[in-house]
Amino acid sequence: MKEIQKKWWHKSVIYQIYPRSFYDSNGDGVGDLQGIIQKLDYVKLLGVDVIWLSPIYDSPNVDNGYDISDYCSISSEFGTMEDMNKLLLESSKRGIKIIMDLVVNHTSDQHPWFIEAKKSKDNPYRDYYIWRDPVNGKEPNELKSNFGGSAWEFDETTNQYYLHFYSKEQPDLDWGNQKMRSSIWDMMNFWINKGIGGFRMDVIDLIGKDPDKQIKENGPKLHDYLQEMNQKTFGNKDLLTVGETWGATTEDGKLYSDPEGKELSMIFQFEHIQLDKIPGKQRWDLKKLELDELKQVLSKWQYALNEDGWNSLFWNNHDLPRIVSRWGNDREYRVESAKMLATLLHGMKGTPYIYQGEEIGMTNAAFESIEDYIDIETQNIYKERTAAGFSEEDIMESLYMKARDNARTPMQWSNATNAGFSSGKPWMKLNPNYPSVNVESALIESDSVFYHYQKLITIRKQNQTLVYGTYRLLDSEPNIYAYERILEDKKLLIVCNFYEPEAAFSYSTGSHSAVNLLISNYSHSSSDLKNITLRPYEAIMYEII
Ligand code: NOJ
Repeated sequence: MKEIQKKWWHKSVIYQIYPRSFYDSNGDGVGDLQGIIQKLDYVKLLGVDVIWLSPIYDSPNVDNGYDISDYCSISSEFGTMEDMNKLLLESSKRGIKIIMDLVVNHTSDQHPWFIEAKKSKDNPYRDYYIWRDPVNGKEPNELKSNFGGSAWEFDETTNQYYLHFYSKEQPDLDWGNQKMRSSIWDMMNFWINKGIGGFRMDVIDLIGKDPDKQIKENGPKLHDYLQEMNQKTFGNKDLLTVGETWGATTEDGKLYSDPEGKELSMIFQFEHIQLDKIPGKQRWDLKKLELDELKQVLSKWQYALNEDGWNSLFWNNHDLPRIVSRWGNDREYRVESAKMLATLLHGMKGTPYIYQGEEIGMTNAAFESIEDYIDIETQNIYKERTAAGFSEEDIMESLYMKARDNARTPMQWSNATNAGFSSGKPWMKLNPNYPSVNVESALIESDSVFYHYQKLITIRKQNQTLVYGTYRLLDSEPNIYAYERILEDKKLLIVCNFYEPEAAFSYSTGSHSAVNLLISNYSHSSSDLKNITLRPYEAIMYEII
């Protein structure tokens, strides 16, 4: 077996903060940097050592900050650069690094580069973006925006179309332009010099696009650009870099996260996340998750990147529905199933990510009316599907299951007014279950979802097998997901009942004699591995020595 070069982020656990919905310190209804600073001790208590901050830059907020108008200044809604410096300082005092969201597939249409580019065809910034002449008086081709409709928008001043893979207010940058790339390296170095811990790279697999060949993801120059980025910015700085890559295969995963370190530390792959949609269709076209498919996909990634790369482990982020509502049971087994899903994921090899609120088992938004949904993607899909003849009931069911707003409701800190998130009117409606699901009560109850996550993180810090052990999927009855992690003569066994009916499991420890139960989501879980009956959503991690 190859000796893997150890990195600090191999044993890290990362906590994603969506600042707008985290904690509002000044009562304007929007979360802010001072709010994050005030909650750093909470984040520390959970035990994570890295925060991924969703965008906090200047932005007109067409896509909640993923449309950036100035990469080097802080949106006044969130605070000032002084607040940002304070956040970096206070986090570092607590041993927490901050990774920034790098959104460089596109800018806002209010970014000075685009304002200049629009002025004339010979403006020095014109080629920072992608412009094409009309073809037969229409869009240059059939490319579609990920938010619905054509990816081309006509600009009347210069009689050309520009490309936007998201909203028309998010024009795509032209990565073929070396000058543009240099401007991005300067900006990244500005943040690196401030002492950040790394970058999460938004839809990074789109930057190699070839619009004329209608290639969006994994374009021909993608890896060249990433290698150049690595050399010009973070390459020799020991930072954590994670790319968002919706279209990645395991082969791509190896290229990106090759331990030789020419590109990124790891990627977010989304194969497992797409198992509950009808293949080849949109994620709104719902299909029930098959546990066997989940096992196959997660195992495939575990095997493929065992030595030749590194996995990220996640169920949630600001674009995804809440996992306990999605693949758990957010009613009578909310706590048990949230802990089961946590155990299943955190037992694997890779760097785990926790999205704010996941650690207290927050659930989907449960909005009944389209008016309550704020997200531009949701509003567009609602209109598109209504026009295409889908029934209202069908559309609302898809939104209830998959809308991004499910993850974006304000963090539930307590059962006080507005869940203790803000003393003003929150920018977005709260999940009505905050009187029972909130941080304050999670911290009081010793068997809460919070303490389960905290324990999983502690085990990771103390257990090399959990960090570096090789993964092996075990045969089991269909409702159970069981696997081993093996490092030299030590083993971990993770066994999870993914559903409500009781399920039997049996395991032979072979020549090993001692079995320690490390964590379970029930009291009195069995250690008789020859014959276990797992209760609804029961999940156990054993150490076998
Ligand atoms: C992925 C981000 O996670 C999402 O929130 C955003 O809308 C798109 N990229 C566009 O930046």
